[in-house]
Amino acid sequence: MPVTSISWQSNILRIIDQTKLPNELVYLDIADIPTLVEAIMKLRVRGAPAIGVAAAFGVVIGVQDYEDDASKKTFFSLLDSTVQQLRNTRPTAVNLAWALESMREVAQKYHHESISAIKEKLLLKAKKIYTDDQAINRKLAKFGANLIQDNAQIITHCNTGALATVDYGTALGSLFYAHSCGKKMHVWVDETRPLLQGARLNMWELQNEGINCTLICDNTAAFVMQKNHIDLCIVGADRIAANGDTANKIGTYSLAVLAKYHKIPFYVAAPTSTFDPTLTSGNDIPIEERPKEEIIDSFGCRTAPQNSKVYSPAFDVTPHTLISAIITERGVINSPDTHSTLELLKKP
Ligand code: MRU
Repeated sequence: MPVTSISWQSNILRIIDQTKLPNELVYLDIADIPTLVEAIMKLRVRGAPAIGVAAAFGVVIGVQDYEDDASKKTFFSLLDSTVQQLRNTRPTAVNLAWALESMREVAQKYHHESISAIKEKLLLKAKKIYTDDQAINRKLAKFGANLIQDNAQIITHCNTGALATVDYGTALGSLFYAHSCGKKMHVWVDETRPLLQGARLNMWELQNEGINCTLICDNTAAFVMQKNHIDLCIVGADRIAANGDTANKIGTYSLAVLAKYHKIPFYVAAPTSTFDPTLTSGNDIPIEERPKEEIIDSFGCRTAPQNSKVYSPAFDVTPHTLISAIITERGVINSPDTHSTLELLKKP
C-alpha cells in the first residue's frame, strides 16, 4: 500500500521529509509558518496536490494560537498574512493558490461568527481538502488505469505518486491501480534533473509496490523510444490552462515532443484543482526559477565552477497539441482544447 505523505495529529502537520529519501524515511512535524514555508520552498513537501493540502493546514496553524476573544480585524490580518506567506513559496502549482483561496473563502463566509467558530470551520475545510484529495486520486487512478494495457512499457517524468499527494498519487496512482488489477508493466523512470524526483522518489515508490522499473537519465528517453521500448508516456501537472496547455516539471515538454515524433500517446494525469481556467493558454503560467546551487552544488557535490551562470526553470509548458489526453477524477479529455477542458470543469 502506498505511503501517506501528510497527516494532521494534535494540531501538528506531519509530513514525510522528501529531501531525505530514498536514504531515510524521516517525518517532520510542523507547528509554525516559518517551518512550513521552509519545507515547501526546500521541497521537503512537494508535488502540486501535496503542497495545496499542506498549505490548507498551514492556514489553520497560522491562526490557531490567536486568542479567541481578541480583535477580529487583527485575526483577519493574521489570516491574510499567513495566506500571503504561503502563496509566495512556489508560484507555478495552482493547487497551492487554489487551496489557500478555498480557506480564505471559508473564513469570509463565517466572518460574523466567533473567532473560535471560524477556526473550527477552517480546520474542517483543511480536513475536507485532505480527504477529497484521497478520494480524487483513487477515482482518477481508475480512469488512468483503463489507458494502460497489459504488459505496457511506460515512461514517466517527475514524482506523481503518494509522495506528491496525500496518498496514492495521480499518474503513478494510475500505475498502482493497474498493477493492483493484475496488469503487468514495466516503467522507465526519468531521473528528473536537477532534484531527482524520479530517481529518488519514483524508484522508491515503484519498488515498494513491487512494480518492475528501470531508471534512466533524462537524456536517454529518446533512445529508448527509438528502440521501440515505450508504449505510452504518463506525467502529472502543476497547472493546466483553459486550452489544455500544461505546466509540469522541467523536461516534460521535451518528453512530449519526443513522444509526438515517435507516435507514442502522451497522457497528463491531474485533479481538476490543477486547472486554471482564468489563463487562456500556457504562455501566462508563471514559471518558478530555482537557485543555481541546485545545479552546481547538488547533493553535496560541486559539479560546475562556483561562478557558473545558471538558468534553472523548475517547470516547462507542454502545448495541448502534444497531449493525447488529460486524465482527471471527472473523466478523460481526449485531444484537450479550450472547449473540452471548460466542458469537463462544468461537470460535478
Ligand atoms: O518541483 P516539484 O517536485 O514539486 O514538481 C512536481 C511536479 O512537477 C509533479 O509532476 C506535479 O506537481 C504533479 S504531482 C501529482
